[in-house]
Amino acid sequence: MQRTQLLALLGVAVMVSFAAFTSAQVKKGKTRPLQTKHWMRGVQGPTCSALGNLLKDPGPADDKAWDLVAQHAEILNESSHVLMADGRCPDAVWADAAKQLREGSEAVLKAVEAKNFADAKAAFGNLTKSCGTCHAAHKK
Ligand code: HEC
Repeated sequence: MQRTQLLALLGVAVMVSFAAFTSAQVKKGKTRPLQTKHWMRGVQGPTCSALGNLLKDPGPADDKAWDLVAQHAEILNESSHVLMADGRCPDAVWADAAKQLREGSEAVLKAVEAKNFADAKAAFGNLTKSCGTCHAAHKK
């Protein structure tokens, strides 16, 4: 085998193992069994939908509804930590999206304290940008 062929082969081998390594982290953490798709399907998706429904016009009707807004925002905030835990995060895009999710949910919670529907709605809009940021790069 020629030197150049050998080098090309080595390059491919490195790329393939890197891709496998990266996708293994994205799909599941290093030590715990939780698969990303199950977290998304079981927690992230339903919680985000429920929060979106509560923040439709004319907004949360009473204290109970505002408490539910807080519940969902707290869970999404926790999710931003889960997504960074157990070696799951593969790169800066992922980390930035998790931060966007964390800061967006914090802003929703701040709006809940003041029961400010317009602020809560705007913060929710920012929160949902995190979904697209991460999915565009990592959801295959
Ligand atoms: C930091 C990265 C990241 C963020 C932020 C993120 N997701 Fe995901 N999501 C993923 C990845 C990765 C997958 C694909 C997992 C797979 O198929 O193994 C996924 C898949 C999903 C799925 C499909 C699950 C299935 O049934 O297979 C849903 C629904 C989902 N995400 C909802 C959301 C919502 C809603 C948000 C925002 C509130 C969000 N995600 C934010 C990484 C993220």
